[in-house]
Amino acid sequence: MVTDAPARATDQADASTAEHKLRVFSGIQPSGNFHLGNYLGAVRNWVNQIDESESIFCIVDLHALLNNPDPVVLQEQIVNLASSLLASGLDPDKCLLFVQSDVPAHSELQWLLNAVTQFGELRRMTQFKDKSAGKGDAVSATVLNYPILMAADIILYDTEKVPVGDDQRQHIELTRDIVTRFNARYGETFVMPEADIKTEGARIMSLDDPTEKMSKSSPREASYISFADSPDVIRKKIRRAVTDSGDTITAGDDKPALTNLIQIYGSLSGKSTPEVERHFEGKRYGDFKKELAEVVVDSLTPIQDELVRLKGDVPYISGVLQQGAERASEAAETKMRLVRDRMGIGRPR
Ligand code: AMP
Ligand code: TRP
Repeated sequence: MVTDAPARATDQADASTAEHKLRVFSGIQPSGNFHLGNYLGAVRNWVNQIDESESIFCIVDLHALLNNPDPVVLQEQIVNLASSLLASGLDPDKCLLFVQSDVPAHSELQWLLNAVTQFGELRRMTQFKDKSAGKGDAVSATVLNYPILMAADIILYDTEKVPVGDDQRQHIELTRDIVTRFNARYGETFVMPEADIKTEGARIMSLDDPTEKMSKSSPREASYISFADSPDVIRKKIRRAVTDSGDTITAGDDKPALTNLIQIYGSLSGKSTPEVERHFEGKRYGDFKKELAEVVVDSLTPIQDELVRLKGDVPYISGVLQQGAERASEAAETKMRLVRDRMGIGRPR
């Protein structure tokens, strides 16, 4: 339970007690479709460690503004994502779940962290390079400043571990640099967070192009398996997934498509890559894909059923998010009082 969350923001002394549970924080954007990559790369790991840690999970709607979403669609996507997270097993009695903009301290801290972040380090982020390519000066400032807001999300709650997919590694490195610089300039204020990136499932690739990661924002529906896909759609997408030349079910650098499919199979069935290879020895691509489709459908169906039920109960979703925001706000405000003091801003007290 995260019942003592507010105290933790100031009470770092309890880090040494036997009962110390790791503070875990992660965020996910309410944009596009919640997909298998999100689940295997991030959310399933959040659920797996929920009992051993004090977990805080955030639906980062401010980050999603980067894609200029339609306001009505954004609201739908917040409900959709909250339902997907709860259906995936994020028990609201065991963690905090809230929407980023419901806790204004995130935006405030983002501004303050501008003071210890350099233009050059933002411009060097891979995500900035990718998303600004071809846009020249017309690129939105949200794309550049995105990692500062992410750093604010993380360090506001004395986070120790940040479970994410591999694509977020660089943003967490920048967060660590920001912490080092802030603490050196203003005194020990923020806890140093660490990325928690699993080897299994950390990078699920597109089904139609194994050189590209499976992404919510892809315009090509065949590239991802969404939690909104019916069993038949899932079967069709897997049947049509690209494969590599050859005829054995084996992974390897020269077989990116098969490696990805084997990873998905392994992650969902709890088998290692060699175990999956052995399981399919002497079998054909078609047999493998058929069995893979059934593993995916069997894993997703119970989550999808729960997702549909939850999506229909907006008052419940809203209540969970409100409670999460209230408790997160208490912790955030305690931290912000310290930060404002350290930086010398505000009227004399
Ligand atoms: P996003 O969809 O960008 O909001 O990402 C939410 C979480 O899912 C982050 O921790 C990402 O690292 C993770 N994630 C997104 N896409 C993938 C993918 N294709 N494979 C593994 N993890 C992913
Ligand atoms: N940038 C992350 C992504 O696109 C989402 C995110 C925002 C996040 N704030 C965070 C992840 C804080 C972990 C911690 O996936």
